[in-house]
Amino acid sequence: MTVIAVDGPAASGKGTIARALAAHFGLPWLDTGLLYRAVGVSVLRADGDPDDPVDALAGCDFPDILLDDPELRSETAGTYASRVSVHPVVRAALIERQKAFADQPGGAVLDGRDIGTVIAPHAHAKLFVEASAEARADRRYRDEVQDNPDADRAAILADIEARDRRDSERASAPLKRADDADLLDTTNLTISAAVQRAIALVEARTGKR
Ligand code: C5P
Repeated sequence: MTVIAVDGPAASGKGTIARALAAHFGLPWLDTGLLYRAVGVSVLRADGDPDDPVDALAGCDFPDILLDDPELRSETAGTYASRVSVHPVVRAALIERQKAFADQPGGAVLDGRDIGTVIAPHAHAKLFVEASAEARADRRYRDEVQDNPDADRAAILADIEARDRRDSERASAPLKRADDADLLDTTNLTISAAVQRAIALVEARTGKR
């Protein structure tokens, strides 16, 4: 059984890396950000206030089908997710589901902000994926401009910096590199180079190929 924890800020490449690790090692994968995004979108649709813990907790009761909704990928969903995820009651409501996924018999890959520190501190391999805010804004901009020629790179950079601040400075399970996590800086790496490096780091920690 192998548990792999992948943490890092928005647009660092952690989701792509986690998915590739899951495929390479034949493990199930959970993108935990989607759970927070589902809470955010539930609050948005109920016209609730994401900064109010009562409204945010009500959003935790979402149906599983919402996890497949493309709206979860939007910037607004990301911002709402980051705002609802500050509340300890929201984190508590989602913790069991994530821990159960991490503890399933064959092992698993999970990516998020607090996997190596809170959800799976016992993980066999932990990666902390980083990239400069500028590089992350460029990636988001290149994605967005394909659908929206008016995409605003400066606004995307400001949003990324605000999200970093909120995720790192919150009191409950902040974004933080676990002491035993390997750092993977993807600023100057192609996707394929970042994935190869991630596989090598996990192999070095687990002895598995
Ligand atoms: O990773 P993603 O951008 O989808 O996450 C959306 C938001 O959900 C993050 O900005 C963060 O505030 C929150 N989140 C979290 N803990 C996790 C995963 C996501 O607080 N494990």
